[in-house]
Amino acid sequence: MSNLSLLILPGDGIGQEVMVEVRKIIGWYGENRDLKFDVSEDLIGGAAYDAHGTPLSDETMAKAQAVDAVLLGAVGGPKYDDLDFSVKPERGLLRIRKEMDLFANLRPAQCFDALADFSSLKKDIVSGLDIMIVRELTSGSYFGEPRGIFVENGERVGINTQRYTESEIDRVARAAFELARRRSNKVCSMEKANVMESGILWREVVTAVHKADYADVELSHMYADNGAMQLVRAPKQFDVILTDNLFGDILSDCAAMLTGSLGMLPSASLGSPMENGRPKALYEPVHGSAPDIMGQGKANPCACILSFAMALRYSFDQGTEAKRLESAVEKVLADGVRTGDLMQASDGTPATTSEMGDAVIAALNASL
Ligand code: NAI
Ligand code: MG
Repeated sequence: MSNLSLLILPGDGIGQEVMVEVRKIIGWYGENRDLKFDVSEDLIGGAAYDAHGTPLSDETMAKAQAVDAVLLGAVGGPKYDDLDFSVKPERGLLRIRKEMDLFANLRPAQCFDALADFSSLKKDIVSGLDIMIVRELTSGSYFGEPRGIFVENGERVGINTQRYTESEIDRVARAAFELARRRSNKVCSMEKANVMESGILWREVVTAVHKADYADVELSHMYADNGAMQLVRAPKQFDVILTDNLFGDILSDCAAMLTGSLGMLPSASLGSPMENGRPKALYEPVHGSAPDIMGQGKANPCACILSFAMALRYSFDQGTEAKRLESAVEKVLADGVRTGDLMQASDGTPATTSEMGDAVIAALNASL
């Protein structure tokens, strides 16, 4: 296997359509930047269920464990809504995240100037925004025991448990500090240490990791409710935000909307280093399979293209090439090439998925 191995899992709906455009970009890097990716492709989600009766086969799972990076499109769709829970498309995605132990979910919120008008906030508040939320992804309230719906004193009670071990906090804190060093060297850690013991421990461990190994990074702490307010009041005060699974779920969606469309949002989920020193890694757009627009050439491929840019940066040590790709997307938007999600109805004819991909290729060519 080459040292640029990539497993592509297009999945369902527009996942398959946006991945066609990413394939073009990967081809461009092979031809023009001598990055010869060893690309394999496989099924996940409904597509895998249709072929094998399972949303993720053991063979595909083994491939995902062996490659340098996995790039996923999206899973799900109405066709699969009535399937048993155990074979639903989403289970394929959950399995891959769990078995690869991807504990650090990276959600950038970056405002492209050309799209500042799409933000729900005033232009000067979001213009130039570039923050990164690091959400713990494998523990906390969504996994802690006890959980369930029980009967107590003659009525039902629903229980979830916020639970974090020191080592779980330690490893995601390190991921955030490492990331900050590659950016503006600032981490703001968010919890509710005022009312939650798990928050007290979170703050203690983050502080200890900082003191021991990352004293060069600027660290601050904030209660997560204040963090939510600050995110919409003055988001540019942040660089890296480190937070737990539950708060991160909400804060990352909140931050995402500062930047405009779901069609622009990439993500990365990273785990522990493999033998070659690279982290286990899954890259995917934030959006789903968008059944309402599938098969019509309407999907914006940028979220998936920018997810590949994150793979260039975090899995393949190609920061300069990642920047080149992000700049190409920015140029395309500035030139006014837009899919429908980035336009008002009165703005004229939208670009198709493949026109958008071609425009990014043209911008990459122009960058040489
Ligand atoms: P969705 O993200 O698929 O779509 C929400 C809205 O945004 C739709 O109107 C869609 O047309 C639009 N949209 C999304 N991505 C777009 C893009 N790239 N370009 C242009 N417009 C875009 O979320 P929804 O509708 O709630 O879920 C649809 C299916 O996707 C469901 O089966 C759901 O379970 C699944 N899903 C999968 C995810 C994943 O694979 N990670 C994440 C979210 C939902
Ligand atoms: Mg969410």
